Amino acid sequence: MRAVIKGIGSYLPEHVMTNAEMSKIVETSDAWIQERTGIQERRIAAEGQFTSDLGYEAAKAALSDAGMTADDIDLIIVATSTPDLTFPATATIIQEKLGMKHGAAFDIQAVCSGFIYGTHVANALLRSGGAKRAILIGAETFSRILDWTDRGTCVLFGDGAGAVLIEAIDDAQENVEAGILHTFVRSDGRHRDMLYVDGGPSRTQTVGHLRMLGNQVFKHAVTDIAQVMRDCAERAGVKISDIDWFVPHQANQRILNAVAKRLKLRPGQVISTVAHHANTSAASVPLAMDRAVKDGRIKRGDLVMLEAFGGGFTWGAALLRY
Ligand code: ACO
Repeated sequence: MRAVIKGIGSYLPEHVMTNAEMSKIVETSDAWIQERTGIQERRIAAEGQFTSDLGYEAAKAALSDAGMTADDIDLIIVATSTPDLTFPATATIIQEKLGMKHGAAFDIQAVCSGFIYGTHVANALLRSGGAKRAILIGAETFSRILDWTDRGTCVLFGDGAGAVLIEAIDDAQENVEAGILHTFVRSDGRHRDMLYVDGGPSRTQTVGHLRMLGNQVFKHAVTDIAQVMRDCAERAGVKISDIDWFVPHQANQRILNAVAKRLKLRPGQVISTVAHHANTSAASVPLAMDRAVKDGRIKRGDLVMLEAFGGGFTWGAALLRY
């Protein structure tokens, strides 16, 4: 069995918050933010608009792209660190919004690596017969967990959602070349204090705010992302130089540039949306991939590497033929 991406979609909230608007909230400047991160603007969810609302819109777009309805799918996985509620899973809220009364739905929590972890899990379930068609969604409202007095973090993040529809296909019968070729995920809990939220139901009974040692995270991210992509490609029996497109987690343009330099990637091979989306955590990879598919860069048959790094630390990569 192979897990093949049949549809992709995304959704961004309407409100565009520019760096100029940000500089009215904290002492910062467009020049500082652009020079250190490449970010020009980010989207912010409206009052009363929740992670499930963003994820639902992205799921509908992926279903429509695949020419399918909720009746055709039997699994929903949502990668998020900003669920609507502590429980139930945001995936079940989206399931109800889609009018889906069958199948199963659950959330995955791996912070910014959530979509890669979700790809890892969906691939395993689809290939082993655990489901036939899954919608994998990355959806976040990080604006709700930011400390809007901390200029070192609040300028970096935004809200959004992206989704893919993945189908299990018997390649002996259908002779397909497309599909997820390999996924490789890692974590190292020793570094959890470098990037975390200082609240939660069990410890504080509060939601908490994002805390980060930015320059420490930066160093680990560059080293670990480059290594996990090498490992994923090697395990798939593919050379980095054979890969057409790289769709990274969109945290910081300087991280993307540093990783591209280490892996000697060709100019233009790395999809970047960080200037307009900022860091949307688990939503950033499907948002960026959707952009590159819709504007015609990523085509059917292309070899695509997805990667991400986030709190935990967690990190990982997924290699697929689109
Ligand atoms: N505007 C203006 N000045 C600022 C701002 C701001 N928004 N934020 C920090 N500064 C100041 C600091 O106060 C400091 O001033 P000082 O020298 O007078 O003390 C100075 O800028 C330098 O601060 P640093 O934190 O050392 O700046 P650095 O070059 O490391 O850039 C940044 C900070 C952009 C956060 C960088 O470290 C980074 O991108 N790290 C990676 C973070 C990341 O991508 N995290 C997400 C990955 S995982 C996930 O997505 C959840």
